Amino acid sequence: MLFCKTSTSLMKEIKANNYSIYFSSSGYRELDLFIKANNYSQIFIHLDDNTKKHCLEVFLKQIQKFNFKKILSKPGEKNKNIQSCVQLWDKLSLLSGDRKSLILNLGGGVVGDMGGFIASTFKRGIDYINIPTTLLSMVDASIGGKTGIDLGILKNQIGTFYDPKMVIVDPLYLETLNKNELISGYAEIFKHSIISSSEIFDKLISTNTDINFNNLQTIRDSIKIKNEIVLVDKKENKERKALNFGHTLGHAIESYFLDSKTRLLHGEAIAIGIVLASHISSKLFGFSSQKLNSIKSHILSIYNKVLFNKNDIDRIIKLLVHDKKNSHGKINFILIKDIGKPVYDIEVDNNLIIEAFKYYSI
Ligand SMILES: NC(=O)c1ccc[n+]([C@@H]2O[C@H](COP(=O)([O-])OP(=O)(O)OC[C@H]3O[C@@H](n4cnc5c(N)ncnc54)[C@H](O)[C@@H]3O)[C@@H](O)[C@H]2O)c1
Repeated sequence: MLFCKTSTSLMKEIKANNYSIYFSSSGYRELDLFIKANNYSQIFIHLDDNTKKHCLEVFLKQIQKFNFKKILSKPGEKNKNIQSCVQLWDKLSLLSGDRKSLILNLGGGVVGDMGGFIASTFKRGIDYINIPTTLLSMVDASIGGKTGIDLGILKNQIGTFYDPKMVIVDPLYLETLNKNELISGYAEIFKHSIISSSEIFDKLISTNTDINFNNLQTIRDSIKIKNEIVLVDKKENKERKALNFGHTLGHAIESYFLDSKTRLLHGEAIAIGIVLASHISSKLFGFSSQKLNSIKSHILSIYNKVLFNKNDIDRIIKLLVHDKKNSHGKINFILIKDIGKPVYDIEVDNNLIIEAFKYYSI
């Protein structure tokens, strides 16, 4: 058994803006109390086909019995769109959802982002809770109150800031998660360390291929980093932008491959974005080349190298104009001077981006 010895300090909740993040059994206890204390007219469990199959029973075994109705989405990023939302709003309406309804999002980032979005808009906003079932959604998507959907191939173009009532993180769900998805989530854990903690960065780098992806301590450390940043700057005016390190190019790469046969998972695209942003950081801010090389070799020890030709790179650069961090027609990058020292809103010349792709590719 992987998770039988969980220390009390690991289980202690993390306080977020207006809600708390609970771990494993303490989370289910809090959920039981929360449901008892709030007289919800309806409780909906939002799932996708995979979490219905793998996670619903696990979840129901952990909590006291309550009446609920299921609302189902199709899995995957390609379904994180307005058509899926219309179906979910219809379903809520058909099942007599009202303003005093609660949605429990039991799934990965797609279920959470979309479930949070429909909760924030249905009847001008109803309560929701995130129970993330992928590594990525545990350490990133379920935390911080960003909800949203894609617009065509463009990521997260429509959305709201709308906090959940609580988040319950239980690595138990990771046992059925496909290895590639697990590895994909790790990119955000690694990114969190780069933007904020040389201690955790050194620890992760030193483990190299020996990483235990579903280790609760690592998950908790990573959530803590994201949460602390969101507490300082919820609406992404400055500090929260650091969470986008590797994402400017990462999102463009992800969008580019959404339309092609070689699909890349979110974290796989972000991992490439991290190497590219670190390279640009070394050129513009003197980020240590030794650390840059460690980042690249750490990433390539985990993720397969993706081949880009000139046409791919040109088209990826074109997609950058849609990045949500842009303003006044400028493409803004988050870079680093050192581990834990991000710099914000940096314009980067296309030639430097092309050079970064070359560095990644050799
Ligand atoms: N809101 C935010 O702040 C934020 C931050 C980061 C990422 N995101 C978003 O998160 C999304 C990616 O999330 P994701 O990586 O969790 O992808 P996902 O939700 O698509 O889940 C990945 C796959 O795993 C399946 N799955 C989920 N849990 C499972 C389990 N326990 N066992 C077996 N299969 C399971 C899903 O059905 C899906 O097929 C992207 O849309 C990204 O934009 C949002």
